[in-house]
Amino acid sequence: MSNLLVTGGAGFIGSNFVHYVIRETDLNVTVLDKLTYAGNRATLSSLPEERLSFVQGDIADATLVDRLVENTDVVVHYAAESHNDNSLHDPRPFVDTNILGTYTLLEAARRHDVRFHHISTDEVYGDLELDDPERFTESTPYNPSSPYSSTKAGSDLLVRAWVRSFGLRATISNCSNNYGPYQHVEKFIPRQITNVIDGVRPRLYGEGLNVRDWIHANDHSSAVLTILERGDVGETYLIGADGEQNNKAVIESILEIMGETTGAYDHVIDRSGHDLRYAIDSTKLRTALGWTPQYSDFRAGLEATVKWYRENEAWWRPQKAATEAKYQTTGQ
Ligand code: NAD
Ligand code: DAU
Repeated sequence: MSNLLVTGGAGFIGSNFVHYVIRETDLNVTVLDKLTYAGNRATLSSLPEERLSFVQGDIADATLVDRLVENTDVVVHYAAESHNDNSLHDPRPFVDTNILGTYTLLEAARRHDVRFHHISTDEVYGDLELDDPERFTESTPYNPSSPYSSTKAGSDLLVRAWVRSFGLRATISNCSNNYGPYQHVEKFIPRQITNVIDGVRPRLYGEGLNVRDWIHANDHSSAVLTILERGDVGETYLIGADGEQNNKAVIESILEIMGETTGAYDHVIDRSGHDLRYAIDSTKLRTALGWTPQYSDFRAGLEATVKWYRENEAWWRPQKAATEAKYQTTGQ
């Protein structure tokens, strides 16, 4: 393996992975990214041109995809429509990119017998009760709630079928909620940090008791690289770092870190179909492949993330007003 094709490499997690790979390995990377509202070419601009090529294009463009896949050793597939709230208002792009786009990549990987790694989410498993002692494992039944998570579940099932029916050399990883630099301001943590910077009160959906299992984007990247290097073809690996927090606690931590009073936020209308709790059991990845997360202190990671958004306003500012205008139409 010396050349990676990374789809969605100008988005949040994909770009963190590209930075990680360029820093930690001698692999070369080609990024294929459509540069939707969520993609930002500038995120990759500091990386060396001799190690990184950038192609703007759609993963559902079969001709383009075929040419790029033919010339790579491994496809690492991050590209997706990724935001649950958007999927509730306009599901169509989620079907086009997450299902048809994944299908297009799989067919090209099959034609050229190229190793494929599919990036997916813990949301395919639905949600857990707050007091459920169980966490998601690789054998938890699929039960997605939103248009977003159902299209991700559909894409996972396509990958599994291509492995079984056509012998595609593929792996899948399902990860929990990521945080860190370069996350779009529509998402929970960057939205609240940038609201506080703007002097706007953070917005908590419903009671805020929903639990997410936070992992730093660097730990997600190291896990994906571990699977590429040592994972068994045909296997699924869950990625998580034991970072369960409810939304209310996360907002209070952000306010405290930013020097505000911890009660200075507003409750707003809840998300329709809002998943209550996600929690990952990543025993398989840790025991079978020897992976361990490095960012075990969520509070320290959050402080670093707050610092990054304070210091990189030029990166997020262009998206902020349009993002908040979209939320205003739903009262959130
Ligand atoms: P993101 O929205 O920040 O980035 C998505 C990227 O994909 C953008 O650069 C966008 O331009 C690109 N893209 C969208 N449609 C495309 C298309 N048709 N062709 C080519 N490029 C296209 O998303 P993210 O949060 O970085 O998520 C990346 C992947 O990780 C997704 O597959 C998501 O399901 C998965 N995931 C995300 C999280 C999380 O917490 N953010 C957790 C687990 C899994
Ligand atoms: O679990 C992995 C998933 O995590 C990924 O598959 C998705 O791509 C990613 O977006 C994320 O999904 P969530 O829906 O959990 O993330 P989001 O940042 O949208 O919301 C996190 C929680 O915060 C959720 O319970 C909703 C809540 N929320 C969100 C926003 C934007 C608020 O309370 N207020 C807000 O303003």
